[in-house]
Formats: sequence, structure tokens, C-alpha cells
Amino acid sequence: MRIILFTGKGGVGKTTVAAATALRIAGTGRKTLLMSTDPAHSVADALGTDLSPEPLEVATNLWAEQLDPQRRLEENWRDIQQHAISVLQWAGIEEIEAEELSVIPGLDELFALADVKRHHDEGPYDCVVVDCAPTGETLRLLSLPDIIQWYMDRVFPVERRVMGALRPVARRMTTFPLPDDSVYQAVRRFYDRLDGVRKVLTDGDTTSVRLVVNPERMVIAEAKRTYTYLNLFGYRVDAIVANRLLPEAISDPYFDRWKELQQAHLATIEEAFAPLPILKARLRDQELVGGDLLSDLGREIYSDDDPTAVLHEEDPMSISKHGSTYVLTLKLPFAAKDELELSTKADELFVKVGPYRRTIMLPKVLGSRRVSSAQLHDERLEVVFDRVTAEG
Ligand SMILES: Nc1ncnc2c1ncn2[C@@H]1O[C@H](COP(=O)(O)OP(=O)(O)OP(=O)(O)O)[C@@H](O)[C@H]1O
Ligand SMILES: [Mg+2]
Repeated sequence: MRIILFTGKGGVGKTTVAAATALRIAGTGRKTLLMSTDPAHSVADALGTDLSPEPLEVATNLWAEQLDPQRRLEENWRDIQQHAISVLQWAGIEEIEAEELSVIPGLDELFALADVKRHHDEGPYDCVVVDCAPTGETLRLLSLPDIIQWYMDRVFPVERRVMGALRPVARRMTTFPLPDDSVYQAVRRFYDRLDGVRKVLTDGDTTSVRLVVNPERMVIAEAKRTYTYLNLFGYRVDAIVANRLLPEAISDPYFDRWKELQQAHLATIEEAFAPLPILKARLRDQELVGGDLLSDLGREIYSDDDPTAVLHEEDPMSISKHGSTYVLTLKLPFAAKDELELSTKADELFVKVGPYRRTIMLPKVLGSRRVSSAQLHDERLEVVFDRVTAEG
């Protein structure tokens, strides 16, 4: 099964391009599901049909679903939320405010990703096309499984052990609302649902991310940052979609300057993101709503190529052996040296780029070694691991 995620700056055409891609794939006879991590009803708007939280067949071989964040929250978060509310109230916060505070922003989108994994595990689709929220939210979302996994692996077992031993005593001594077993079970269920999400989404044979851009300075700048962070977290970008290109046929002098500007920006995109393929879509003379217009756009973007193909293959992280040392290489395009932070602790390597931090669990062969040097070379971070000798 293939999963294709679309992201990019707000308004660049993510939903439109995702829908066009899904239609194109369905057109080749493969069962395709189009879904969104964005709670806004944008997929329904693009298709021009109503959708429900269950997949609905909207064209031959094409299903689409509309996230119901409230329902997902109820299913996954209610028990945990109840506990959070009682803690907040204990701390003197009014009930209504506690209710609001207990909902972590981005949680509903996270459940949408868990849904992607469920479709991956259960089928019956050949391809799932995901229209993601604008870049910032998508990045936070994609880094969450990493953060939660880390937390669950460390804190949860310890906390549970301590609480198990303390609860009978603590109940008598304090009014602090201790989490009971249902909270732990809810956290466990939550964790189980997320477990593997990252694995599926970073598996190069399964998942590709496509970045949608417009030929505009700010949009390109944001796409570059996104590309850096996606690599940091191990997601594989396999193409750029340049949308809203002014058609050659436009001859009105008013647009001449715009066409020149777009040409220059397109050249920048091609140079900056090489060797990623740049797929192109022209600016149309109307909004792209409904199957016919979207199919037409899909044909333009992919021509006769298979939209489900992995359009560019490169592992963001690799480990190689050089004599007695090992080198871990992490692709970090457009990252600057002075925004990089690196540290290690036991068998973990922490890499921070700007505001984002990734924890990399080191394989056994590296965990027992010492980092002897690190450098940023040709858009790649190279971390050299030496053997720890008996003397030191
Ligand atoms: N190539 C194009 N030609 C003409 N109109 C376009 C084109 N691409 C997108 N549009 C129109 O631009 C508007 C915004 O597109 P879309 O909703 O796909 O953007 P988005 O990136 O998903 O936005 P958001 O960040 O709000 O989710 C829509 O009305 C869509 O029909
Ligand atoms: Mg959208």
C-alpha cells in the first residue's frame, strides 16, 4: 500500500493537488482513499460533495472521509481528559477553563494520523492520499509521535510503578487526584494506537511526502524550512509540486513582469530542491471544484506517469563503517551550522535544528561508542562514533 502526504504553506493548493492526485490514481483502477488531517471541511469543498467520518465512495475507486475531531477525542481522550480536568480543578482552576485547558491543541490531527495507520493495517485501499494542514501544524503533528513515544518509554513505566506502590498511602494523605487504572489504560490505548504510526509514515516504500509550493519568495522560503525539518524527522519527500504557474499563452503585458518573476522563482525552486522532481500545475481561470476540473489538473501534474510511484528515493539517515569508526549521516538540507545542536546520552542522540528536536535511538553498535566529531558537510550532518577503549 502507498501513502502520499501533501503539505505546504497555507493556501498554496494542498487540498486541490491532493484531490487531483487521488482522482488520477483512482482513474488507473486502484482503490484510493482521500482524507485530511485538517478538521476544516476542505476536501468536501474541493470535491463539491458532502462527506462523513466514514469513507464514502465519491467516484469510481475513490473514497473520501471527513474527520470528526469531537468523536475521535471522545474515543481516545475522554478518560485522560477527565483526570487532567480533576487535577486542574484541584489546582483551583474553574471547571469551564479546566475543560478548555485539558484539550491539547493538535490532538485531533494526531488521531487523523492514527487513522492513516489503521487504514494501512486494515485495508482495503491500494493508496491513501492525505491532505495535511498547513506546514507548521503538520510539522508539529509529525514530530508528536516521536515525543510521545519518548515520554511513554521513559516516564510511563516508572510513574506507574511508583503510583501503584503509593496509591493506598497517598490517597489517605492528600486530596491530590491520583490517576486511577482507567487513566493508565486510556494512556496505554492511546499509545498503542500511535505505536507504529511513525514507522509507517517514515517507511520509504510506503509513504512519500510531496511539498506544494507557488512561485513566490515567502512560499519557497517556508518550503525549504519544511524540507529541512521533514528530513530531520526521517520523512521522505519525493517531489515538489509547483502550483499556480502563469500559462505561457497569457500575452497581456500586465502579466509580463509577473511571468518573468515566476520564471525566476521556478528556477530557484528547481535549483534548490534538485534532484527532487518538480511537478507543475498552471494557474487556471477558475477555482478548481469538482471531479472534472480536478481530474484535468491531475493529468497535467502527472501526465502519463504513475502518481503512486516513489518519485525520488533517498534515505534521510544512514550509518556506514569506516575502518574502526562508524559514521551516522543525517540529511539536513538548508540547515545552517549555527542553528544545530547535538548531544548524546547513553544510547540516544539528540539533534536540534531551530525549534525542532529529534531523539534518535542509536543501534546497539553505536550505543556503546563515543561521538568523536560531528560536522555539517554538503547538507549532511555527519556524526563520527569512535570505539570506547578500555583506558577511557
Ligand atoms: N492551479 C490553480 N488554479 C486555479 N485555482 C487554484 C489552483 N490551485 C488551487 N486553486 C484554488 O485556490 C484555492 C485554495 O486552494 P486549496 O484549498 O487547495 O489550498 P490549501 O493549500 O489546501 O489551503 P489551506 O492552507 O487553507 O488548507 C481554492 O479555491 C482552489 O480552487
Ligand atoms: Mg487545504
